[in-house]
Amino acid sequence: MGIGIITCQVLEKEIKSLIRDNPEVSHFVVMEWGLHVQPDRLLAAVSDQIRKMEDQVESVVLGYGRCQAMDRLPANFKIPVFRPPAEDCLGVLLGQERYEQEIRKEAGTWFFSRGWTEMGMDFIFHELQVNRLAEKGLDPLKIAHRMLKDFTRGLYIETGLEDDLRLWPKALEISREFHLRLERTTGSISLLKQTIEEALKEQNRHLKNFGGIMDLFTAIKERRSCRSFSTEPVEEATLEKILEAAIWAPSPMNAQPWEFIVVTSQEGKEEICAEAERCRQWALSTSGWKWLDKYRVDFLKTAPVLVVVVGDPKKTGVDQFLEDGSLGYQYACAAAVQNMMLAAQALGIGSLWYTLFDKNNLAQILGINPEKKPLSIVCLGKPSGDVPPVGRKPVQEKIAFFR
Ligand SMILES: Cc1cc2nc3c(=O)[nH]c(=O)nc-3n(C[C@H](O)[C@H](O)[C@H](O)COP(=O)(O)O)c2cc1C
Repeated sequence: MGIGIITCQVLEKEIKSLIRDNPEVSHFVVMEWGLHVQPDRLLAAVSDQIRKMEDQVESVVLGYGRCQAMDRLPANFKIPVFRPPAEDCLGVLLGQERYEQEIRKEAGTWFFSRGWTEMGMDFIFHELQVNRLAEKGLDPLKIAHRMLKDFTRGLYIETGLEDDLRLWPKALEISREFHLRLERTTGSISLLKQTIEEALKEQNRHLKNFGGIMDLFTAIKERRSCRSFSTEPVEEATLEKILEAAIWAPSPMNAQPWEFIVVTSQEGKEEICAEAERCRQWALSTSGWKWLDKYRVDFLKTAPVLVVVVGDPKKTGVDQFLEDGSLGYQYACAAAVQNMMLAAQALGIGSLWYTLFDKNNLAQILGINPEKKPLSIVCLGKPSGDVPPVGRKPVQEKIAFFR
């Protein structure tokens, strides 16, 4: 998968000069120029194109400024969307600050970008929205003259492309028509370049480390408890990503009452496994539950990584003053575990939330401060063999409405 580009026709040449035959740009769509005069139509058309690309590219670059529409783009696309930070295509070529300076310098400035100049008089009529007046028997040129009567300057933007001045005569012709003094200024395609580079960087990051990120609902529904792992190690970058997901979990008063002990040594895993086995036997004899007889905890020594989630009961938030208090820190640690498991799933790593151990014994094995509690172990690794399916009851059975 590569990146996709959706651009207004007026920036087509500038963007093409940047990507040439770049194989990482797999989709390129040119949109009709002038859609910005109907922002809702522009918004719908661009959103539609992004949706079409969603499953085919890693990210999308828009060859648009804000253009009265783009900051209303939906936030729920499956892929990141990049666009240059500017008001419109002129801001894209001049840089937003320069663009504003030029307007302040001479408010009656009509800008000639390459793409716009190419459209000739049509561009003026379209921009002023007078092109339909002919149907009503009115002369659009006459009205355009009236609308541009306070304009004094034409500003031709060069961007360093090969035949930059090719359209100068056309700009001159239009300027003469409207009594504008035509000047030249230097713009650049660097904002477009930066935006494309950002998207390529994002794509490479995904390709290098993660081979594409799964969408959230797929990860939620396809995650299953994995109890059989291959010995293949979990890559460092993948593990970091999983732990990063953990710390973005919510917690009471943002107390972040967690610490994570990453166990990868065989010796450490064996010790934890022995404690779990002891606990299993104790639970079997206490409960008499038959399934515990067959239940094996060997995955604790075969999983390449065990992340022990340690909670701090002091960081439990205001619930310490409430009935059944001091659960807040456990909830937060549980949320961190779930974040880790979903991140693992999205990155192709199997996981198990494991809790059958004695907290004091595990704390002793790992030398954990007695004021803190090891609450869960998250086993991580590539699944070996199929992970058995587990169903859920229909959601309707679990919902009550109080309206
Ligand atoms: C708080 C908690 C503790 C769990 N403890 C264990 C455990 O000690 N051993 C185990 O094999 N699975 C454990 N599980 C996993 C559950 O058995 C599993 O989530 C459940 O059967 C549903 O299966 P699924 O995760 O594949 O959807 C635990 C899950 C949770 C949420």
